[in-house]
Amino acid sequence: MVTNFWNNLPHGFTVLAPMEGVTDVVFRKVISRAGAPDVFFTEFTNVSSFASEKGRNNALERLDLEITKAPKSAKNSKNPDRALNTTPVVAQVWGKNPAHFKELASALENLGFSGLDINMGCPDRHVNKAGGGAAMIKTPGLAIECIKSAKSATSLPVSVKTRLGFTYIDEYKTWLPLLLEQNLSALTVHLRTRKEMSKVPAHFELIPEIIKLRDKISPDTKLIINGDINDIKHVQELSKTYPEVDGFMIGRGVFKNPFCFNKEYIDKKPSKEDLQDLLEYHLSLFDKRQKELEKRNSRYPYEPLKHFFKIYINNFPGASGLRAKLMECHDTASVRALLKSETTL
Ligand SMILES: Cc1cc2nc3c(=O)[nH]c(=O)nc-3n(C[C@H](O)[C@H](O)[C@H](O)COP(=O)(O)O)c2cc1C
Repeated sequence: MVTNFWNNLPHGFTVLAPMEGVTDVVFRKVISRAGAPDVFFTEFTNVSSFASEKGRNNALERLDLEITKAPKSAKNSKNPDRALNTTPVVAQVWGKNPAHFKELASALENLGFSGLDINMGCPDRHVNKAGGGAAMIKTPGLAIECIKSAKSATSLPVSVKTRLGFTYIDEYKTWLPLLLEQNLSALTVHLRTRKEMSKVPAHFELIPEIIKLRDKISPDTKLIINGDINDIKHVQELSKTYPEVDGFMIGRGVFKNPFCFNKEYIDKKPSKEDLQDLLEYHLSLFDKRQKELEKRNSRYPYEPLKHFFKIYINNFPGASGLRAKLMECHDTASVRALLKSETTL
């Protein structure tokens, strides 16, 4: 019997937001070492890719938890492998084909996930053109069918992450009730419309109205708020102001501070050494993952790793010069050599 992990979380729990190209198995592990949230989300996986012969392997790679497996002897609670293994990971999926939702949902439990989340908020044009993400707000009948299909195929808790509306803020008044009527385990509301992308401040002023809707329609659904939340200190402030909100999701905050979930860093910034240690850990996981995928005749390309350097090499004299040099590197060995030569200067 699967337990609904959402019911066992502390009040005011924290969630690492799903971020395509960012929150894969490697980065989730990096964040585990810096300070784990209460819940991880994966990047989103397309249900129709999973359902197709051609896309299945790629979908399964995105849903990989393999390098997260802790050695059985791991006793140290600070071991990041262990942290990841005890922190629930929710697989986020998107698409518009109810039968494909069913197919992927039925596989998730065996893959080791604690929950399934349906993306109904992504503003990406390609995703929306394919009828997924925020486009679901415009096809509510289909959205409900997809939720029902997913729920029918798994005993894992099913949740939805969405926005206030597609074009207008007021859409939340009909869209959120519709979702809440589906008896979801959790509902994450990114406090912006699709049209607003991330260009305007999140509409925190609407939180009390959203709480009222949740309390009236589905009091057992965990309400998670997302948008412009920086770190654990900010979470604690918001939790005091809005005690009825169950959880708080942080996305881009990890780029400003990867230690943003760590209570030990609540009143201090990570040092240059903290960040460089974390970068070295990221590089070692990158190598491990690359080897793992090569063995499976797949690839873990180097170029996307470059996007992460600004997280670690930041806010100290000479940081931007070092970053520029790092951007010229073409593999982890040259990154390491450069970092070594900089510290021995
Ligand atoms: C690089 C990037 C990739 C994202 N990918 C996803 C995704 O796969 N699924 C999703 O629901 N949201 C995705 N988002 C949106 C975030 O989960 C989050 O809702 C948004 O960034 C607002 O939260 P924040 O202000 O804390 O960053 C992505 C955001 C970014 C910046």
